[in-house]
Amino acid sequence: MSDKISIALVGAGNVSNTIVKGLEFYKNSTEGLWHPKIGGISLNDITVVAIYDIDASKVGKTISSIVNSKSDFGGLVIQPGIAEDVAPPHISKNGQVKSSSYDEFVNSLKKSKPDFLVNVISSGMEKSSEKYAKAALDAGCSFFNATAAKTCTDQTRKEFQSKGLVILGDDLMSQFGGTAFHRGMIDFMASRGIYLKKAYQLDVGGNQDTQNTMAEETRERKRLIKTESIAIESPVPFMSTAGTTEYAEQLGDSRVSYYWMEAKGFLGSPVELDLSLRTNDSTNGCNVIVDSIRAAKKAIITKDYAKTDIISAYAFKNPPKKMHIRECIKAFEDAFTN
Ligand SMILES: NC(=O)c1ccc[n+]([C@@H]2O[C@H](COP(=O)([O-])OP(=O)(O)OC[C@H]3O[C@@H](n4cnc5c(N)ncnc54)[C@H](O)[C@@H]3O)[C@@H](O)[C@H]2O)c1
Repeated sequence: MSDKISIALVGAGNVSNTIVKGLEFYKNSTEGLWHPKIGGISLNDITVVAIYDIDASKVGKTISSIVNSKSDFGGLVIQPGIAEDVAPPHISKNGQVKSSSYDEFVNSLKKSKPDFLVNVISSGMEKSSEKYAKAALDAGCSFFNATAAKTCTDQTRKEFQSKGLVILGDDLMSQFGGTAFHRGMIDFMASRGIYLKKAYQLDVGGNQDTQNTMAEETRERKRLIKTESIAIESPVPFMSTAGTTEYAEQLGDSRVSYYWMEAKGFLGSPVELDLSLRTNDSTNGCNVIVDSIRAAKKAIITKDYAKTDIISAYAFKNPPKKMHIRECIKAFEDAFTN
């Protein structure tokens, strides 16, 4: 089996645009790449073969007309995806959804034959994400789910594996975003014998996905996932809340996480921390995406499906098997970079 990887992107938004830009940029550079090679595979080995959206203002246009840079994949035309949910406000505002039937979508995937369907659609589109996972399985490609929809279960993992495919998910954890940083801080405190009592993380962002996350049900679902993902780092229970609290358009594609932590040291002496972290949202997930699909390709080639547990723990906030952040980075690098 070849080391080359073909991907189809579903959701032609910020993350897809950044991946397309990154694949062009990293033809001649490794600056800013977390892992230039994973399992011997570089970014030059990744090709985008199809892209989908349901926003009628995007469907039918080429990638180059919405990505502000030159790209080998710029000529690909955005095709209609599946719409199983009420459209997010940015689409319903214009009132224009352009979608295809499930069978049309599966046939389209069968034609482009990607190794992976990378699901980067808007938050809150749970049923559509679940349908995309099913479509990937029916079309014979592996599935990567950046959204908070629950697609990666024991059942789906078995189904994908029985076809020599993998499913990775759920809810992408950015390289150095609010959740990863929070987990790293707790891990460091615990390693120094400082135990948390109370903490919160309040995230504010200005992009379209943050706006979609503000819908109460979506916000609550993502808050629960973040809070549980963070809790795993502390050896003792603590009072915790972590989630998106506000959409502030003026922040653009930035995200600011405000942290407050209260811990106790020797003789119960107080340790208090108050800080903020500002990052660029769409670039923050891309190293993790390109690392995971390369690692997954390697696991498929070697038929070492058990390693997908490590990949999901490394790349997602809600993986099937949670691992401590330090532990999953080490396990990932031991398995795929040596
Ligand atoms: N650092 C990160 O960027 C990061 C981290 C964690 C999770 N994620 C998740 O990745 C996803 C994408 O983020 P983004 O910033 O690119 O969002 P975005 O809003 O910029 O783009 C999402 C795109 O999906 C399209 N879409 C919506 N429903 C669709 C459907 N049913 N079929 C096809 N296309 C559909 C929208 O029209 C839009 O073009 C989100 O779910 C987000 O929560 C991103």
